[in-house]
Amino acid sequence: MSDPLLQIDHLEKSYGDEDVLHDVSFEMAEGDAFVLIGPSGSGKSTLLRCVNRLTEPDSGNIYLDGTLTSGSEYDVDELRREVGMVFQDINLFAHLTAVENVTLGLEKVAGLDAEGAESRAMAELEQVGLADQAGSYPAELSGGQQQRVGIARALAMDPKLVLFDEPTSSLDPELTGEVVEVMQQLAYEGMTMLVVTHEMGFARSAATQMLFLEDGRLVEQGPPKQLFTDSETDRTQEFLRRITEAESAGSF
Ligand SMILES: Nc1ncnc2c1ncn2[C@@H]1O[C@H](COP(=O)(O)OP(=O)(O)OP(=O)(O)O)[C@@H](O)[C@H]1O
Ligand SMILES: [Mg+2]
Repeated sequence: MSDPLLQIDHLEKSYGDEDVLHDVSFEMAEGDAFVLIGPSGSGKSTLLRCVNRLTEPDSGNIYLDGTLTSGSEYDVDELRREVGMVFQDINLFAHLTAVENVTLGLEKVAGLDAEGAESRAMAELEQVGLADQAGSYPAELSGGQQQRVGIARALAMDPKLVLFDEPTSSLDPELTGEVVEVMQQLAYEGMTMLVVTHEMGFARSAATQMLFLEDGRLVEQGPPKQLFTDSETDRTQEFLRRITEAESAGSF
């Protein structure tokens, strides 16, 4: 059997005396789209941040494609090339056009020449449906379009894995759909994705597994169908009921 693409092995993280991640272990195969859910403060962002080493875990190991990446021996720049991240805060450079925002990393980090970077960036903008906005500045784009540029920027580095941390929560509800559609498309095309989101439509349609994190512990993991219809724990069921109700009331 081949190695899992991502292996999280007995991860522990505390801030002071607060246990933020406790004995978290799971594996993703290539092409998996995992949706991570859990109450505010349960450790979702911390978990993602450990994967690309924006945060160092206290103990436990993380392996990407069979190689230990959580130790200081592994080059963090290399890791950031292999693991893309899309945040809630979109963070495009305001003085650069959409295509320039995508070419920047291709030239500076991946080492492509200007021409190669531009053609790659255009292909990624095409992929997220924004080829016609390549010359626009962030201020001229909607929040949803900006986030799609952020996704194109992450994809341009040809990552093995993309982490999404609530990519639609700063968007108006009418702009959320276009970002979710791009993410669905990526999942269907086999991109390996670990996604923190309240968008249960995305989870139902695109997730291969869902993980429920509570107080830093992985309480339950399974295919969406299982979690939605037959959760093992009342807490998962209760959380999903609340999140689904809030979603249909339009407050996410
Ligand atoms: N740099 C930090 N220093 C101290 N405490 C932190 C730090 N980062 C996170 N925490 C704490 O760790 C806990 C988990 O935070 P985290 O951001 O991972 O939760 P989350 O599940 O992403 O929450 P939300 O749904 O609100 O985004 C929280 O109690 C938070 O206050
Ligand atoms: Mg968070």
